[in-house]
Amino acid sequence: MPLPRLFDAALDRLVLPGYSRLGYLARSAGWTSLPDGTLTGRTVAVTGASAGLGEATVAGLVRLGADVEMVVRDRGRGEAARDRVLAAHPGARVTVARCDLSDLADVRRYAADARDRLIALHGLVHNAGVLPAERTETAAGHELCLATHVLGPFLLTRELLPLLRAGSPPERPGNPSRVVFVSSGGMYTASMHVDDPEFLAGRFSGGAAYARTKRMQVVLAELLADDLAASGVVVHSMHPGWADTPGVAGSMPAFHRITGPFLRTVQQGADTAVWLQAAREPGRCSGVFWHDRTPRPTHYLPRGVESPAERAGLWALCVDATAA
Ligand SMILES: NC(=O)c1ccc[n+]([C@@H]2O[C@H](COP(=O)([O-])OP(=O)(O)OC[C@H]3O[C@@H](n4cnc5c(N)ncnc54)[C@H](OP(=O)(O)O)[C@@H]3O)[C@@H](O)[C@H]2O)c1
Repeated sequence: MPLPRLFDAALDRLVLPGYSRLGYLARSAGWTSLPDGTLTGRTVAVTGASAGLGEATVAGLVRLGADVEMVVRDRGRGEAARDRVLAAHPGARVTVARCDLSDLADVRRYAADARDRLIALHGLVHNAGVLPAERTETAAGHELCLATHVLGPFLLTRELLPLLRAGSPPERPGNPSRVVFVSSGGMYTASMHVDDPEFLAGRFSGGAAYARTKRMQVVLAELLADDLAASGVVVHSMHPGWADTPGVAGSMPAFHRITGPFLRTVQQGADTAVWLQAAREPGRCSGVFWHDRTPRPTHYLPRGVESPAERAGLWALCVDATAA
């Protein structure tokens, strides 16, 4: 039986119970599982697929029958992850492709290669993520969180649009191609700061840069959803709660130590990203922010809601920064 709506919302607002494995266990008791084979015939690309939630998303997608393109920045780590997926799912159809999402030239190179190799894409999961200790710039001079979470995914979505459109032919409506941004509940703590997207002003904090760009991902999903409304491609964002991954253990050791027993497994954290590719409901809407298979508010207070000028500023930033 689904969780009563008020109880579900209370878990969400209290953060720890909702984001931890307790929230997942309480909510998932009311879910019907998607049958194996739901994604047969569909091809989905997952970025940051060499570890953590990305690898678990790949495993969840192949369990449902999808062909999966594992997009990784290090081929060795990617192939090791692929071998773990194949050991658990013998016969799964997975390819490993190299792409550093923070490097716009590499994103262009990878997308051109994907357009040569693939006939269509039915899904794209923007999962690659970083939480740097210090302000770091990419070769093109962009702050690393901005490049990895926002500029790279924006460019990749646009470059892969011909494949995503081919996955949603107008003569077969009802099951559109789906782009999903894996954001974070941390985005609730931040506004976008489009006036200083490269985090040049003030003292740099990796956590703040992470939260700002995770907020940008949620707004960008809404903007792309509008932009692609007529294309047969839907765009969503989601947050996974708190899951026990190499990233959390390495970037936030104190948090990992304290919350350890309550953290979700990677499968639990990846569940909504997989579900968004496969379930009917997210195929019928676009531009929605999800957690545990349920639409969630993007703000809890009116203060901090993005103005039209800030939203336009984010779009202009992405278009300008990714122009060839
Ligand atoms: N775990 C959580 O509780 C949690 C909570 C909220 C949001 N998230 C989000 O979930 C996503 C996955 O997080 P995680 O916890 O699984 O992190 P993780 O264990 O650190 O894994 C991150 C993955 O992203 C890849 N990556 C990083 N930078 C990349 C780049 N420039 N190009 C391509 N791939 C890159 C990493 O590749 P390498 O193997 O080469 O390092 C790795 O495969 C992130 O977007 C994160 O913000 C996670």
